[in-house]
Order: sequence, then structure tokens, then C-alpha cells
Amino acid sequence: MEFSQRISSLKPSAIREILKMPNDPDLISFAAGNPAPDSFPVSAMGRIAATIFESRAASALQYGVSEGYTPLRDITKKRMSEKYNILGENDDLIITSGGQQAIEMTAKIFLNEGDTVLCEDPSFVGALNAFRSYGANLVGIPMDDEGMDVEVLSQKLKTEKNVKIIYTIPTFQNPTGTTMSLERRKRILELAEEHDVIILEDSPYFELRFRGEDVPTIKSMDTNGRVVFSGSYSKILAPGIRVGFACADKNIINKLTVAKQVSDVHTNLFFQMLTTEYLDKFDVDAHIKKVCDMYRTKADKMIECMEREFSPKVRFTRPEGGLFISCTMPEGFDGAVLASRAKEHKVTIVPGCAFSADESKVCPTFRLNFSLPSLEEIEKGIGRLAKVLNEYVG
Ligand SMILES: Cc1ncc(COP(=O)(O)O)c(C=O)c1O
Repeated sequence: MEFSQRISSLKPSAIREILKMPNDPDLISFAAGNPAPDSFPVSAMGRIAATIFESRAASALQYGVSEGYTPLRDITKKRMSEKYNILGENDDLIITSGGQQAIEMTAKIFLNEGDTVLCEDPSFVGALNAFRSYGANLVGIPMDDEGMDVEVLSQKLKTEKNVKIIYTIPTFQNPTGTTMSLERRKRILELAEEHDVIILEDSPYFELRFRGEDVPTIKSMDTNGRVVFSGSYSKILAPGIRVGFACADKNIINKLTVAKQVSDVHTNLFFQMLTTEYLDKFDVDAHIKKVCDMYRTKADKMIECMEREFSPKVRFTRPEGGLFISCTMPEGFDGAVLASRAKEHKVTIVPGCAFSADESKVCPTFRLNFSLPSLEEIEKGIGRLAKVLNEYVG
């Protein structure tokens, strides 16, 4: 069978492949990017689901509009503008099937074959693959503790051809866990203005801050409609509902709506209704606070175990929110080698190369997730990993 170049050039996600591993109860996964299942508001959602089916089953089961269920758009717009100043006068919002679809459709409406996307290196593989699937030339920009290196970004904007999108996850980045400083956010916006490119600000984690002070989103500083903000209910409510959104200039939202019509017509209406009711009747901010408290405890536990058990040759990030910690071994070591050895010792991690714009690159890094495992699993899993890691780095 001859498949399109578009799909042939994509590799299956390393993370999804790791998740397919046999269901061994003794296996400890630090590989997944899953929220903690006990953070899902199950009982509230169950009650809401029953009410929707009792009172409005026909509308929940009917076709809906592509822009999204109007009450959900309204409540999301209100929350995003009042709390985060994300929606400007000329902006609008579309509900998407997760943040992933907002990214994929943004790629679709802006990228021609061969156009360049400048992205953080490392970055979220789901987005990188979306860009690859539209034939984009991916150029990675190195990162440090304050996010994307804006000096390199500035150079690449001058030297790379047809740059269309700067893709960034400024808050609690995946995979590094780092948060971009305000100065850099401002600078990236300035550079985007100067070079007339779009910024795709992907922020599914920004409300999951468990320490430190909020940093304004890039979108909140955008006065010229150049930023597409991609958000999600996956990490604050539950990922299985597949409800996300994009906020952007009205003209961009109109194009995203056309893209949505040919993609899946509209996001699952039942779960849009359920999300609306939850936001309307329950205190979502109190819920988010509870989730943050849980993740703070887990992140602190993981860091405490890593400090105690890992070789001092291994550096790691100390995130103030989100789901991930990124670790760096000395130069010359390979995260992929460590991942396969760790798997033999029943602990899974994701090697850094899975997040690289250049997939052939050997990376001395690996990502750990702290939201899914229990505190006991963190203790045990870091112990197992430390054994393999310390043997490897010597
Ligand atoms: C950085 C980033 N963006 C977007 C997504 C997509 O999330 P969802 O489609 O569940 O909203 C993820 C999921 O892990 C992510 O890590």
C-alpha cells in the first residue's frame, strides 16, 4: 500500500508506544502525560450527565455548530477575559476537540508545504507532528530556565525562509516544565511583530500553578491579533472529554471554523454541555486549587527522591506547575538508552529525543511525569530509576 508522504514521514509517538506496553501491575510509569485520575470531578460529572440525559437528551445527541456550543463559548470567553485578559476586542473563540485540534487546525490554516515553524527545542511531540504533517520545515530554538532563547530566535527569524509560526508553550512547558519569563514573552511578541509572523501560544497547563507568581500570557499582551492562544479543559477537568479551545482574532477564528467543518464538524456536544454545566454550577477555581495542591505534593516528593537518589551529575528542572520534570545527564549520554534500560527495571520514562525538532538527534535528556503515579509509586519508581541511571552515568 502506498500511503501519502504526509503520513509516511510521521513516526508513531514514542510516548503512545510506551503507553501500549503490557498491563504489568508492577510497572511504574513516569512516561505518560496523564492527569491524576483521582483529580477528575467524577461525582459532579456523573450528576450533570444524568441531568443532561433526563432533560435535554435530544439536543445533546443532535448536530451542533462548528464554532462550539454557544453557552460553553460564552462561559469560556468570560472566564478567559475576566481572569486572564486573554480575549481582545477583535478576538473570538472556537471550541475544539482538545488543545491538540486547535494546534493541528492552526497548522492547517497557516502552513504551506515548506513553510518554517520555529519551535522550542525540545517541544510537545503532538504539535511537532501536526506541523510535520503539513510539510513544515521545523527549526528548533534552544531553551534555558527562562524559556526559548530569544537571541537565537531573532537570528533564525532573519535567516530562515518563509517563517509562518513561532510555536511556544510558555508556561510549564512540555517536556521541560519551565516557564518563560515576562521579558522574553514581550520580546517574542516584538519579534513576531517585526517579522510579521503568527505566535501559537499553547497553554494547556497554565492554570496548574502550584508555586510562585502567575506570568501574563503572551496573548494578553497581543494588540494586533497575531497570537493564537490554544487552551484546554483536559488538564483541569479530564482529558477524555476532549474539550479545548482557541482564542484568536475573529478572522483567524473564521478560518479555524472552516477547518473544523472539514475535520470533525463539531466537538462532542454532550461533553461540551457537561463542561458548561460544570463551569456554571460548580467552583472550577476551587477544583483547580485542589488539583494544584495534589500536584505540588507529588512534584515535591519526586524532587525530594531525586535529590536523595540521583547521581549529582544529573541536573533536573524544578517546575512551579504543570505535570513534568526534565532531567539532563552529562553530554554524550543518551536518554533513549536509559529509557530502554529503565523499562527492563519496570519503570518507564520518555527519552528527550522524542521531543526534538530533529528526531535523529541523540539527547542526554529524559522526561518524568509526576501527576499520574501515586506517592508510593514515585518513591519506588525513582529508586528503580536511580539504580539504572547511576550505573549508566557512573
Ligand atoms: C503542550 C501540550 N499542548 C497540547 C496538548 C493537547 O492536549 P489536549 O488535546 O488533551 O487538550 C498537550 C497534551 O498533552 C500538551 O502537552
